[in-house]
Amino acid sequence: MANGLDLRYPSSSQNDKDRANAVFSGAVLIYRALPAMYELVDCLREITRQELGLKDPCLAESELGSADFRLRAGRARQIVRQSDDVARLYKAVLLETGVDVSAIFYDHFKLRFQPSNDISRTRYMRDLPVHRDTWGSKVHAQINWWAPVWPVRADRTIGMFPALWNVPVSNTSAAWSYGEFKQHLNADKDTNYPMLPHCADPPLISEAVPIVIAPGDIMAFSGAHLHCSIPNRSGVARISTETRTVSARDLHHSRSAKNVDCDASVSQLHWFRHVETGESLANHALRSEINLSESAVSTP
Ligand SMILES: [Fe+2]
Repeated sequence: MANGLDLRYPSSSQNDKDRANAVFSGAVLIYRALPAMYELVDCLREITRQELGLKDPCLAESELGSADFRLRAGRARQIVRQSDDVARLYKAVLLETGVDVSAIFYDHFKLRFQPSNDISRTRYMRDLPVHRDTWGSKVHAQINWWAPVWPVRADRTIGMFPALWNVPVSNTSAAWSYGEFKQHLNADKDTNYPMLPHCADPPLISEAVPIVIAPGDIMAFSGAHLHCSIPNRSGVARISTETRTVSARDLHHSRSAKNVDCDASVSQLHWFRHVETGESLANHALRSEINLSESAVSTP
């Protein structure tokens, strides 16, 4: 335990039930020095270096103009999202942690840039506010996976709020609509409509526990955990990778985090696709007659 955070370091692969029981009770799991994670890091570094044209892309803000940085980073993000190599290596990472990949649905394999300077920030490249992912997805069986691509520090990483695990926090999940967000975005790419629900009265960032892990490590935590980006003012960009998964077995066995404060009306199961077949989790849930009890299911 560190600062109230239930931090665990599984030393070998773990079955889905044990992982779910740990994560959905608030534990943060750190899988250290996975061979497949080193390969994934190498692959992500190569893409990033190539697109940014820099040996050390973390210095992009001092070596490129901000418009150029944003453009090149956007291209790197797209390449990662569409890369078969990245998908193959992410699957290998999940396998090494013990995940039954045959039951796994995911959203995207993401490369994230968190700039240090205001001028480089965009909707997708910024300090993320305090939130629970489940306020947007309403999928309480969601597991978040997060890993640094280049080394991070306590002032340039992700932060968790363990004291607010299972503690209701006022938020905008009831009013927020993914459909409205997409409509606003289609009409105006610079819309102010928020990308995700957020805290109405956020805790102080100083209450967040920064997670400092090394490239080659990956952490897993419940999408219901309150978290944020530690505001990056370090002078160096943070470059990390992440994905979100849902195991159909967790849904079948009703393994999930408790809903303490999410008032969203629909579960966004269609955000998740099977890691091998590409089938939508919304389709799978219908086909398998998974009962999501309290919520309607949104379709694309
Ligand atoms: Fe998040």
